[in-house]
Amino acid sequence: MATATTKAGFGTALSRVDGVAKVTGEALYAAEYPADNLLYGVVVSGAIAKGRITAIDDAAARAVPGVVEVMTHRNRPHIAFFDRSYRDETGPPGSPFRPLGDDMIQFAMQPVALVLAETFEAARYAASLVDIDYAAEAHNTDFAVARANATLPSKKRDNIQAPKPRGDAEQAFADAPLKVSQEYHLATEHHNPMEMHATTVVWEGGGKITVYDKTQGPQNIQAYLASVFGLSKKDVQVRNPYVGGAFGSGLRPQYQVFLATLAAKMLERSVRVVLTRQQMFSHVHRPEAVQEVQLGAETDGTLTAIINKAVTSTSNFEDNMENVVTWGMINYAAPNAMGDYKVARRDTYTSGDMRAPGAATGMTLFEIAIDEMAYAAGVDPLRFREMNDSDVDAMHGIPFSSKELRKAYREGAAAFGWDKRSPEPRSMKDGRELVGWGVATGIWDAMFSKTSARARLTANGHLEVASAASDIGTGTYTVMTLLAADTLGIPPERISARLGDSSLPAAPVEGGSWMAGSVGYAVQLACRAVGEKLLKAAAKVDGQPLGGATIDDVEFVDGSVRLKTDPAKSVSFGEAMRAAGLTTIEAEETGSEGLHGMISQTRKARNTHSAVFAEVHVDEELNVVRVTRIVNAVAAGRIISPKTARSQILGGVVMGIGMALHEESFLDHRLGRFMNHNFAEYHVPANADVHDIQVIFVDEQEPELPMGVKGLGEIGIVSTAAAIANAIYHATGKRIRSLPITIDKLLAA
Ligand code: MOS
Repeated sequence: MATATTKAGFGTALSRVDGVAKVTGEALYAAEYPADNLLYGVVVSGAIAKGRITAIDDAAARAVPGVVEVMTHRNRPHIAFFDRSYRDETGPPGSPFRPLGDDMIQFAMQPVALVLAETFEAARYAASLVDIDYAAEAHNTDFAVARANATLPSKKRDNIQAPKPRGDAEQAFADAPLKVSQEYHLATEHHNPMEMHATTVVWEGGGKITVYDKTQGPQNIQAYLASVFGLSKKDVQVRNPYVGGAFGSGLRPQYQVFLATLAAKMLERSVRVVLTRQQMFSHVHRPEAVQEVQLGAETDGTLTAIINKAVTSTSNFEDNMENVVTWGMINYAAPNAMGDYKVARRDTYTSGDMRAPGAATGMTLFEIAIDEMAYAAGVDPLRFREMNDSDVDAMHGIPFSSKELRKAYREGAAAFGWDKRSPEPRSMKDGRELVGWGVATGIWDAMFSKTSARARLTANGHLEVASAASDIGTGTYTVMTLLAADTLGIPPERISARLGDSSLPAAPVEGGSWMAGSVGYAVQLACRAVGEKLLKAAAKVDGQPLGGATIDDVEFVDGSVRLKTDPAKSVSFGEAMRAAGLTTIEAEETGSEGLHGMISQTRKARNTHSAVFAEVHVDEELNVVRVTRIVNAVAAGRIISPKTARSQILGGVVMGIGMALHEESFLDHRLGRFMNHNFAEYHVPANADVHDIQVIFVDEQEPELPMGVKGLGEIGIVSTAAAIANAIYHATGKRIRSLPITIDKLLAA
């Protein structure tokens, strides 16, 4: 009789395996690593937005007891000359910023000096005493001004899809009996992870450094530092085993890792640099964006024309670009469609990727326009989306690998109770509050990235799986553990996952929602290879209980390999290894199917989809909005780890609430500086802003991506703010086309 076993694997509701280390404080973050003889570096932020440094007086700073050095562009060690040396895996085209490169100032709060001292307090005090004179030049940080000079991005990027026109959108719009023509705006947002950007460089001697950095890709940082400082990669080890959130802010190397490494090199000592919360507003941010959307439809609500023109902000030295206008052209079946995308350059640091870059902007704003057309046609907003949904990628004219959006609409609507909605705006109330229900469609790419992993089984039955992947709070440790458990039938408590170390098998940055599927697949391949070696070892056991079984004839359960047809015939891993005289079994494998990118080799579009339903309560006297319910129904292929997967969607939805109601970085254009650079004035959702959130994963069979996994770190934010904006319209009859929807906008409407 086969013994009943519970095998952990796909779909097991395992709690985050790194959870205990995190809540007990055992998990160390970049700013917490101890180092002997450590110097503390504090960044001096520049005072102007554009111009040149004309004089630096560091005498008072140097006189502070404990201060060791004041590093500026004048006394720093040599750094690489050519732009290409500063490129990284993820940066946009242009001329990457070089901290302390020369006397030129390109954006407000640009780092202009690093004060190094034996204590943090001395460094911080001395930093306040560095006196710098500038020759200021006229700057522009106003998006409205920059927009007038917006152009196509200077160069293409391989992850950017050109909007592909179809039919004659202008003519179809002109001919359409129903029209929507509006402009939509999204404020600049900053990522604001809990953990500030931080680096501890440990000077190991012999020219070697170990760099603990807050990053989404340790090998990206390793390659960057080696290239910028002319070091050999083998002398630079980068580690990020724990990351306190990043949301894209850790994709590119940020300036603290550059400064800490430069100072360590200069002084031949260990150095720590931690940015302040204010300085977190001095680098990457989600671009400010404007979208002009024109929709044409027949009187029955059939969409006939889509015109979508977007402009997003970037810097004057790099062209950050995103897929903004394509999503609606892909998702909706309108026979005539066109898009246009430009970037507007202003004197800030370069904008960059922030959770679902492009889609969180472009699809969210577009889904407000779609809602407007549904009302114009007098069609239920959910019904309108269903009737205009395209079964194929309507922009490229190719099938999707899978698209269970209709299922998401149905299951989301049922859970939300959409059929009880009364259609008219201002028709639903709860006491003195207006109630509104809104819906929106989300879409994101389902990508895979070449990744390697190693699996090592030891004779005591312990399995270690390892990859230079990152876990930025997303659940990578848990996913790696579950897939190892699934493949080799080892309980999770006997598995350890290692990541966040540049010396481990190659992995890309954690981004684009590809990490779980990519590193998960590599772990599965490596564990399978270990399994094949185990089977060979088992053949050496006396009496050969498994006969001549091949890998397809056996299964791995509870630390044993056994025949599928006769589970009583089994060999424990320990027995097999003893018989073969092995103390460890190890394998490294790489998952690479040329799958990077959004369209597969079989010419299918690969996307995740979602249907987001929102309920708001609006107090009309105060114009306070509460998001009382969200149902987010997601089609993302096979779910590996239901608990961490749900957490990803919850986090995305919370950020979507922030986008809808709170988050906005204000520029003071006289100073050219983001002025609300703290959590008192840059509002993110707090507990009191977050009510009931229900996450549904609909069943979706994905035949193309490895393991049928699509990834879901980003889809949760896409269009959540649109569902909320649409709910606010339904509650109040006020259509606000600029996010976030703050009290002042509702008052003025
Ligand atoms: Mo994501 S914005 O690719 O970290």
